[in-house]
Amino acid sequence: EEVPKLFTPITCKSVTFRNRIVVPPMCMYSSTDGFLNDYHVAHYGSFALKRPAMVIIEATAVEARGRISAHDSGIWSDDHIVPLQRVVNVLKSQGTVAGIQIAHAGRKANMGTSWMPGGYHNLSEQEEGWPSDVVGPSESAFDEVHANPNALSISELKEIVQKWADAAIRANKAGIDVLEIHSAHGYLLHNFLSGNSNQRTDQYGGSLENRLRFPLEVAQAVRNVWPQEKPLWVRLSGTDFENPEILGHDETGWDIYQSIEYAKALKEIGVDVIDVSSGGNLPNVKYPVDKLYQVPLSNAIKHKANIATGAVGMITEPKEAEEILQKEEADFILVGREHLRNPAWTNRAASELGVHVKWINQYE
Ligand code: FNR
Repeated sequence: EEVPKLFTPITCKSVTFRNRIVVPPMCMYSSTDGFLNDYHVAHYGSFALKRPAMVIIEATAVEARGRISAHDSGIWSDDHIVPLQRVVNVLKSQGTVAGIQIAHAGRKANMGTSWMPGGYHNLSEQEEGWPSDVVGPSESAFDEVHANPNALSISELKEIVQKWADAAIRANKAGIDVLEIHSAHGYLLHNFLSGNSNQRTDQYGGSLENRLRFPLEVAQAVRNVWPQEKPLWVRLSGTDFENPEILGHDETGWDIYQSIEYAKALKEIGVDVIDVSSGGNLPNVKYPVDKLYQVPLSNAIKHKANIATGAVGMITEPKEAEEILQKEEADFILVGREHLRNPAWTNRAASELGVHVKWINQYE
């Protein structure tokens, strides 16, 4: 009998994934000064015990002002390596591939978490915020709630490129197997990609070639220091939804057609997998949020840019996940919130697809 694709191993460079199930990065806003702690060991360990192929550790800031909140995970200093290594060791001890997403929040930095006093709001200095040091391609804010960003100078861009590379070096030292660059959801790299957030008139704004320049410099610098044999993933938003049609055009903003060009350029640099999400760069746009809604974006990038992809977003049913793979719309399936609700999603999927996946000995 044929093994479902969801449970067919796949090898990418030096890394073998025992199945296609991945826990995507999910911010926990539970760090102090960027350090992972006992909470994270328990949280990430709970997934590892249940045998997905890979767990991608949450968006981890390459510099302190690039955090979404004051409690984000961070990797801007060598001191972050050992606490990160504790989580990596827990994942690897269970045969789970250890991934991490490195990130810079750009113009969406400096926000409170929903559960802190005042909720989701622009942090003041008194709340450990850095409201006057939020940065982006231009001075336009995300919305009335977010800080007014400072437009980055060209010399600052060079410094930030180096920070991404330094973060990659540290992730490697911590034992991370798969590095993911966060280029989605309205954070710094996405701010540069999209004409909806990038109003620059220098070589980093205007034409698509110019808007791609800074994100590609980051990807190249990371690839240069990230070991050749280790996979590099990039998460992008396939559209800003300025045009509400998922495959609609938004030539001066950000759409799937520009995403395909970006993916081709990333492939040239040596990026292995595109993790395809959407949105996050514009307030007040309509999202066609429904089951599997981002899958058409993954399908377009996979076939038009000829690169492996991950599909994510409201994938909760194992049979649907299997169908995405069978239809070659993606190579990996990322299941986020459903993993928070049920960390044993892999075992559930196995049982629904009629495969035997052993629980760990202690649970059998
Ligand atoms: C997220 N998401 C997210 N995405 C990302 O690229 N980096 C991140 O750190 C986070 N953080 C985060 C926190 C929490 C609590 C949630 C629920 C989501 C988005 C996430 O990775 C995923 O793309 C979406 O949740 C959609 O997938 P699901 O949850 O529908 O399977």
